[in-house]
Amino acid sequence: IWPTLIFPCSSLTVHTASQAVVRGVIGKPVQLSCSYRVAQDKDISDMCWGRGPCPKSKCTNKILHTTGNRVTFRKSQRYSLRGNISSGDVSLTIGRVKAEDAGTYCCRIEIAGWFNDIKRNIQLEVRGEFGDLHDTASSQKPLARYV
Ligand SMILES: *[C@@H]1O[C@H](CO)[C@@H](O)[C@H](O)[C@H]1NC(C)=O
Repeated sequence: IWPTLIFPCSSLTVHTASQAVVRGVIGKPVQLSCSYRVAQDKDISDMCWGRGPCPKSKCTNKILHTTGNRVTFRKSQRYSLRGNISSGDVSLTIGRVKAEDAGTYCCRIEIAGWFNDIKRNIQLEVRGEFGDLHDTASSQKPLARYV
């Protein structure tokens, strides 16, 4: 019972300590930042963005992927990479955010070799113009304050 008292968040939510939270407003674009170090052209790696936390390999519910320095798949025109892919900026822009866009996104840089991939889980919270929250994960947060 004691670990539960010390770490109540871990049993209530999928948040991990390092998970970034980004807030978006319905109808406006939002950017989910993700980048990695590119010193030379050969460091440019294929990458993918997916819905849900990064799985063991690739991206679940893939919404976009790159090949070299080009975007070669995107599930919807609302998803784009506006940064300089050649310099390692693979931040995702979602145009005209909707309530159902809320949730966790995975940015995965596919580095050659076992277990070398760079993985970033980013939580998107979506609010309406009037500040109403449309994110189920966040609505659990106040429970953690019982500690
Ligand atoms: C993108 O980054 C590459 C590598 O750093 C650089 O050579 C190129 O000029 C940049 N392109 C733009 C449009 O900034």
